[in-house]
Amino acid sequence: MSLPRSDALVFFGATGDLAYKKIFPAFHAMARRGHLDFPVIGVARAGWTIERLRARARDSVATYGGGIDDKAIAQLSAQLRLVGGDYEDPATYAALRQALADARRPAYYLAIPPSMFARVVEGLGRSGCAHDARVILEKPFGRDLPSAQALNRTLHTLFDESAIFRIDHYLGKDPVQNLVIFRFANTFVDPIWNRHYVESVQITMAESFGVQGRGRFYEEAGAIRDVIQNHMLQVVSFLAMEPPIATYHESIRDERVKVFQAIRPLRPEDLVRGQFRGYRQEDGVAPDSTVETFAAVRLHIDSWRWDGVPFYIRAGKCLPSTTTEVLVTFKRPPLRKIALGETNYFRFRLSPDVIIAIGARIKKPGEQMASEPTELKVVHYPDGDEMDAYERLLGDAMAGDGTLFARQDGVEAAWAIVEPILGNVTPVHDYAPGTWGPADSARLTEQVGGWHCPAS
Ligand code: BG6
Repeated sequence: MSLPRSDALVFFGATGDLAYKKIFPAFHAMARRGHLDFPVIGVARAGWTIERLRARARDSVATYGGGIDDKAIAQLSAQLRLVGGDYEDPATYAALRQALADARRPAYYLAIPPSMFARVVEGLGRSGCAHDARVILEKPFGRDLPSAQALNRTLHTLFDESAIFRIDHYLGKDPVQNLVIFRFANTFVDPIWNRHYVESVQITMAESFGVQGRGRFYEEAGAIRDVIQNHMLQVVSFLAMEPPIATYHESIRDERVKVFQAIRPLRPEDLVRGQFRGYRQEDGVAPDSTVETFAAVRLHIDSWRWDGVPFYIRAGKCLPSTTTEVLVTFKRPPLRKIALGETNYFRFRLSPDVIIAIGARIKKPGEQMASEPTELKVVHYPDGDEMDAYERLLGDAMAGDGTLFARQDGVEAAWAIVEPILGNVTPVHDYAPGTWGPADSARLTEQVGGWHCPAS
């Protein structure tokens, strides 16, 4: 289905952190590929000049964009406009209308704190800027089910669901999309990808750093809201979904949402929370904070394919490595004597590098009829031409393709899964930085032989 492209991109929060770390590098990459064929209008509080914004864009690309391409940065500078003013002031939106000039189908990217979403949406509506427009926004989409529903109501006052693009940047990552390709483009996978063969699925998102000065934000979020309700559940949806129908453009999202709807709401006994020692001394963190910087959960998917197969997620800060990895472990074959030890598995490393590996057993050299484990591994080395998640997602939103974005029903279903474990329903255990979180988390995976710890 071909939809009209947006013909201008307006981004609120032009001087903010997200713009600096992710958005300018994405624009630069688009320009390098010849895709930045629309005006880019930054909206920021008054006091900035266009020269200062251009300098910030250059600096951002030099720091986070993998180096400056002179032609691309020149094009970005030429396309960049600035509208300065308060987000509550009608004059800001009047200036925005002017800056939009001939653009008829703008896309508005709300790279601002969620508490400001409603004000901006209202400002766009009142000024008549929202006609034929799209809106792009960042997680968190609310902080629980009722606030997510309220946010959706606000957005829907101006925008149809098909015009709303909710970014979960994990969906824009190549290795995450590869999970779907690997499953559905390889004949050998399908027959074994179910409860008859799979014993368990584990996803670990480990980060060796702490909250990096974002203590204030983290106090509001914690690991469950920050990455489990969104990034990690999206990975689960790709691993667990049914095959999409090729001829219907919403099918992939439909199948992902069905996974969320089939996951049982989490119970406190399926959760272990941890907090790294030293977190309470971080800037913006309460001295008696009980916010978790580590969470491990055990999920049950009540579907025909997955009944009885546990899915485990573990995510945390200050762990021994910065690695995101999926391990799909298969049941043991019956001839115990020759298949003793580690079983078969698929291992997908999603970041920082990309690995797809198959764990197998082979004959151990020597006299005995015994086996030993081996791994068949494909490592993908970046060749410099990868598309960063933000470049891909902004391009898709401009084209009106919502496949890789979160949909309202999916966001609400994902909140329903974590709703019973938000807050202090279980104690938070402390753990030493550089370890795999609190020892208590071992109890969740006891029945499958423990947690898989991805190497650096
Ligand atoms: C963000 C979280 O959404 O994702 C961060 O707010 C986290 O806490 C980050 O570090 C991880 O993203 P990536 O792409 O570096 O794995």
